[in-house]
Amino acid sequence: MLLNQPLPLKNLTLRNRIVMPPMATEMSVNDEPADALIDYYRERAKATGLIIVEHEYVSIEGKASPKQLSMADGVDVAAYRQLTDAIHSQGAAVIAQINHAGAVAFDVNHPVISASAIRLWRGQTEAKEMTLEDIARVKGSFVNAAKVAKEAGFDGVEIHSAHGFLLNQFYSPFCNHRTDAYTGSTMDGRTRLHCEIIRAVREAVGDGYLVAIRFGACDYMKGGSRIEEIPEAVKRFVDAGVDLVDISGGLNGYLIQGATQPGWFAELSRPAKEAVNVPVILTGGIQTGQDAEKLLAEGVADLIGVGRAMMQDATWSERALASLK
Ligand SMILES: Cc1cc2nc3c(=O)[nH]c(=O)nc-3n(C[C@H](O)[C@H](O)[C@H](O)COP(=O)(O)O)c2cc1C
Repeated sequence: MLLNQPLPLKNLTLRNRIVMPPMATEMSVNDEPADALIDYYRERAKATGLIIVEHEYVSIEGKASPKQLSMADGVDVAAYRQLTDAIHSQGAAVIAQINHAGAVAFDVNHPVISASAIRLWRGQTEAKEMTLEDIARVKGSFVNAAKVAKEAGFDGVEIHSAHGFLLNQFYSPFCNHRTDAYTGSTMDGRTRLHCEIIRAVREAVGDGYLVAIRFGACDYMKGGSRIEEIPEAVKRFVDAGVDLVDISGGLNGYLIQGATQPGWFAELSRPAKEAVNVPVILTGGIQTGQDAEKLLAEGVADLIGVGRAMMQDATWSERALASLK
């Protein structure tokens, strides 16, 4: 069986290849974890290798939804400490997904910013093109969030650049119309902010700490990011300092219209895995232990994310491992 094989990862050893991917629950209380949410994650940590806690906003202007968790300045580290302790008590590793919503921020009382002056279909209003001061501020917010996560006992952080949020907006030529160093017309420009954030986070958390990226590797739309671009992008992220690449979709979100086969993003994770020598996570449509085992055997990823199936069934990991014995 491949699914139960441990994986050494930076300062950790994951006990198996099962990942609970980040899934927003809208269960925060005052934007912090509370008992019900802590119980929810504790239940799913049993027999799971790695839990990536749902996205947390790095600053209020980047908040994505009313009950999203915060990892911004002033958050109560003790509340997160209870969450990470609960997950660790079950033997799983845990990382925090840190995010800025950019053009799809939900609270228009704060400036809505993006790579360019765009309005996305999920956005409340047109975003303002970010100045260099805005860029510096956002970078600082990611660094701050990473420091808070480390203090709160998370084993690492995952920088969110998928599903149409801010870093995906920079990566996507559909959204990024800039002509400066962050231009959407070159790979260097499209990945510049990512690499600056990765390097700044790395400097803040130290060499031994796990830094991952959730990479929306293809937008699946005209004018958007393309599959052929994946090797170059992931090499840049790894050179900048990421230890783990978590593959998902871009502006299309976490689904591909009409696709039902387990692991529908395998066509994205395969080129990523071939391009870099850090572990790659594949998520999307995986329902059973057999699905996961088959994808690992095909070599399209090192780790398998199981989202909605695990949301619905807290015992998914135990059952999947037992079914393969
Ligand atoms: C309710 C819900 C919330 C989600 N929230 C996040 C999130 O916070 N961050 C993220 O990167 N992906 C998020 N996703 C996407 C999941 O991580 C995953 O990629 C998606 O559910 C597809 O995998 P599945 O078919 O195993 O469910 C969310 C998905 C769902 C269904």
